[in-house]
Amino acid sequence: MLSFDDEITTTDTAAAPAPSGAHLRVNAADKRIINGKTDVNQLVPFKYKWAWEKYLATCANHWMPQEVNMTRDIALWKDPNGLTEDERRIVKRNLGFFTTADSLAANNIVLGTYRHITAPECRQFMLRQAFEEAIHTHAYQYIVESIGLDEGEIFNAYNEIKSIRDKDEFLIPFIESIMDPHFHTGTPEDDQTLLKSLIVFACLMEGLFFYVGFTQILALGRQNKMVGAAEQYQYILRDESMHCNFGIDLINQLKLENPHLWTPEFKEEINALFRQAVDLEYAYAEDTMPRGVLGMNASMFKGYLRYIANRRATQIGLEELFPGEENPFPWMSEMIDLKKERNFFETRVIEYQSGGALSWD
Ligand SMILES: [Fe+2]
Ligand SMILES: [Fe+2]
Repeated sequence: MLSFDDEITTTDTAAAPAPSGAHLRVNAADKRIINGKTDVNQLVPFKYKWAWEKYLATCANHWMPQEVNMTRDIALWKDPNGLTEDERRIVKRNLGFFTTADSLAANNIVLGTYRHITAPECRQFMLRQAFEEAIHTHAYQYIVESIGLDEGEIFNAYNEIKSIRDKDEFLIPFIESIMDPHFHTGTPEDDQTLLKSLIVFACLMEGLFFYVGFTQILALGRQNKMVGAAEQYQYILRDESMHCNFGIDLINQLKLENPHLWTPEFKEEINALFRQAVDLEYAYAEDTMPRGVLGMNASMFKGYLRYIANRRATQIGLEELFPGEENPFPWMSEMIDLKKERNFFETRVIEYQSGGALSWD
């Protein structure tokens, strides 16, 4: 860049040399998802437009927990006959899992994945995603506070409730491996460690471990119970499905740029993790629903989890693990696709607009 002094003393413009540092301008074609050599501070020129578009879409979905009216939930929870014991168990287990799950998801992004990704468009999405995880933790805290649950019991559930602890113990090694300050990508083995962590978080954490809980609370909402909580979960589900889709795009682009990582042994290892995650989430379903409740029972979730696992597997280029499984909860797909202005539970008091730029047609 020319300084003011340069401008007034330079007379021979035809012979002006290129500014020093011009060789550091970014060529989009040189960008890479991992192990890139281009300047990560220069967002443009874009190479990964899909990441930028998802970033814009998540911003357009912005919402805050305190915009949701919780008065009906508070009245229902206080009413001794408002909910059955099984329904209360579902709510408490749900919050027990989710109050800390989104902190784990945020830690994974901020302390783990972010520094290893060398595509600034993807980093931009991940910054937004990290904030959304904070909003989700806020939402769960807001529900706990609104209905007056014991904070210590709920926030410490991941140390006290086995079905929750088992899921988190499955996940934590995949955060710790990439958080380790000595860990860097650059060898096939280390690149596979990162890829495995991306798959575990997008496909198995956000893409599978959230689904029993989401389905249960949304099923309550469909029966006109805990409608404020259900509305919050509806927005969280929409955010998480975007995180999951971004993660899948990231995984597929990383694979495309590094096909040597996708070995038969690696795929076998991923398949085994998928099966383990389905078992853990099914154990969680059984623990949260010892009996049938809300027209659902644990065994329906076996089919649902297998159906979701098949979908996640094929999205990243693996074979279906459980061929032929069908979705026992087709209404969940409608929930995921709900447009912002069509609030299913109709409890929202404020419609958030970011810059008046929202259009859904
Ligand atoms: Fe989240
Ligand atoms: Fe997420």
